[in-house]
Amino acid sequence: MAKQFKRTLITTALPYANGPVHIGHLAGVYVPADIYARYLRLKGEEVLMIGGSDEHGVPITIKARNEGITPQEVVDRYHTIIKRSFEEFGISFDIYSRTTSAIHHKTASGFFKTLYDKGEFITKTSEQYYDEEAKQFLADRYITGKCPHCGNERAYGDQCESCGTSLSPLDLIQPHSTISGSIPVMKETTHWYLPLDKHEAWLRKWILEEHKEWKPNVYGQCKSWLDMGLQPRAVSRDLDWGVPVPLDDAKGKVLYVWFDAPIGYISNTIELLPDTWETWWKDPETKLVHFIGKDNIVFHCIVFPSMLKAEGSYILPENVPANEFLNLEGDKISTSRNWAVWLHEYLEEFPGKQDVLRYVLTANAPETKDNDFTWKDFQARNNNELVAIFGNFVNRALVLTQKYFDGKVPAQGIFNDYDQQTIAEFVAVKVEMERLLDNYRFRDALKEAMNLARIGNKYLADMEPWKLAKTDMERVSTIMNLSLQITANLAIAFEPFLPFTAEKLRDMIGLNLWEWNALGSFALLPEGHVLGEPALLFEKIEDDVVERQVQKLLDTRKANEAAAYKAPPVKEKVAFEDFMKMDIRVGTVLDCQRVPKADKLLQFRIADGLEERTILSGIAQYYPDPKALIGMQVCFMANFEPKKLRGIMSEGMILSAEDADGKLVIIQPSAKVTNGVEVK
Ligand code: MF3
Ligand code: ZN
Repeated sequence: MAKQFKRTLITTALPYANGPVHIGHLAGVYVPADIYARYLRLKGEEVLMIGGSDEHGVPITIKARNEGITPQEVVDRYHTIIKRSFEEFGISFDIYSRTTSAIHHKTASGFFKTLYDKGEFITKTSEQYYDEEAKQFLADRYITGKCPHCGNERAYGDQCESCGTSLSPLDLIQPHSTISGSIPVMKETTHWYLPLDKHEAWLRKWILEEHKEWKPNVYGQCKSWLDMGLQPRAVSRDLDWGVPVPLDDAKGKVLYVWFDAPIGYISNTIELLPDTWETWWKDPETKLVHFIGKDNIVFHCIVFPSMLKAEGSYILPENVPANEFLNLEGDKISTSRNWAVWLHEYLEEFPGKQDVLRYVLTANAPETKDNDFTWKDFQARNNNELVAIFGNFVNRALVLTQKYFDGKVPAQGIFNDYDQQTIAEFVAVKVEMERLLDNYRFRDALKEAMNLARIGNKYLADMEPWKLAKTDMERVSTIMNLSLQITANLAIAFEPFLPFTAEKLRDMIGLNLWEWNALGSFALLPEGHVLGEPALLFEKIEDDVVERQVQKLLDTRKANEAAAYKAPPVKEKVAFEDFMKMDIRVGTVLDCQRVPKADKLLQFRIADGLEERTILSGIAQYYPDPKALIGMQVCFMANFEPKKLRGIMSEGMILSAEDADGKLVIIQPSAKVTNGVEVK
């Protein structure tokens, strides 16, 4: 039997303020957390949803250095953008603050001090790279050198981005500091460590025995960490950006970002509720739930709980429903490669369509495995589900009521068997939705909500009130009443998922009731209640709109490939005489067609100044419309040894440039010339 709680504290991973947020953030953390928070609030429960920006850590200092601004300026910029994107998407934080706040610095440093005073840390001295010119220790990212695996000259101290291998700074060949360029030396440094090994026993019991209900991906990751055996983890760093270590002998040292960031959840609660925050963090009747992505599991299931336990007065999370990753058009989302759909850009390009994205990201949420976002799927779900089912049903219900009953809710009359059956199906769906929402299965819960709209759609289609209107207005009255009750139910059922649409719908039908428990009632709108003007809830998204988005991504991919392109080494030298042996000429394409059963080949007929010749070229995949090439001038090698391909004799070779992505592009003279002239 599940434990009963009095209130729920929802935390959402604090995104790093070193870039804007994208659909991966929304799908993995913020939309699911928001659905859960809205659902619980709708049920009348006491809920708090905490968010904020994670503003410390080395990448922020690197970004600042690269741009010649301060880390504070970096986080100010992105905190503002991120906060606004979340607001616009209706993520209903009770507070969205930041880890550079004074309250957070005080809270995090107090937390450290408590653990320190209780003797919960150990210290360790180790040798680390130090830049004597810049007079500072170097974070792994600040050291570059040659990768021992692939020879890339610009590998970082933590990873080679060329071959993807994880590295330690000591692996680098010829390391140097990116700050001064000098060669770093090894120097001793002392840090505080949280001895996770000492926490292993209770963690094993708490997670592996008492929280078997956690999602398999979360439970599995915890188990593998625990089975490997836990090691002490450093909680401080030699860095000048972060919360200073509050000890006298800790000059130049700050708390490690993964130590201070989760304390940010507490700081932000204190900022919001200075007098009552402890109820939310220390009362065992509070249910603490962390919403995160899978790369954060160890920190939220093992490290942070150990910190809370070591402190001694805090509760532990009841669940950590971490999600897997969302990919974009088949590739991993990447901030540095600009492979993302940025929320602030989506908001500009799809104004008013926040719910469409919320819908698609939930319907396709990476709850149990990595998933892929594609613009085609986005369009299909909008057009075939939101427009064709939900929007269509609501619109028909309201328009028909306008037509037959002047926009007033007609009398309910007496339900027949079919009506009763529809109502029963409805109630069953509600029960199922609750079970799913209570178990963090938002994707399936949304499917059920959509099923409610489907039931309504089917009901109207089967009842065909427009046919009965001539003969049996009493029956039409019942049908329309029931359809409107279903509409009102949809406004409630969809609120957690599509809050903007739910509000629009509520306004349209003048629904005042605002409770989850009213779901399943067929007396939500009284007889005679006046409805507002029907307006469309969703609109169709046309092909050209999504094609433009796909093109934008293709352009990004192309730019990335060009940036990563390394020109091949120059071949062996060739004498002029040898060059002159090649007879390259210009000709005009008279005809061009695909070669049957050969995917790659195009067959050209070329006017070569003498007569005509046939040339085969393996570029079909890059020129899907061969006829468009007719009339174009091309360069071809005229004395190429003729060769038979697929039974066709090819008399020459058409010259193309091979682009960074392998695409072949035909070479053309820059002005029209006479057919048959030589290229020199
Ligand atoms: N900034 C981290 C990330 O984006 C998440 C921090 S979550 C917190 O991966 F618990 F530390 F706040
Ligand atoms: Zn490498």
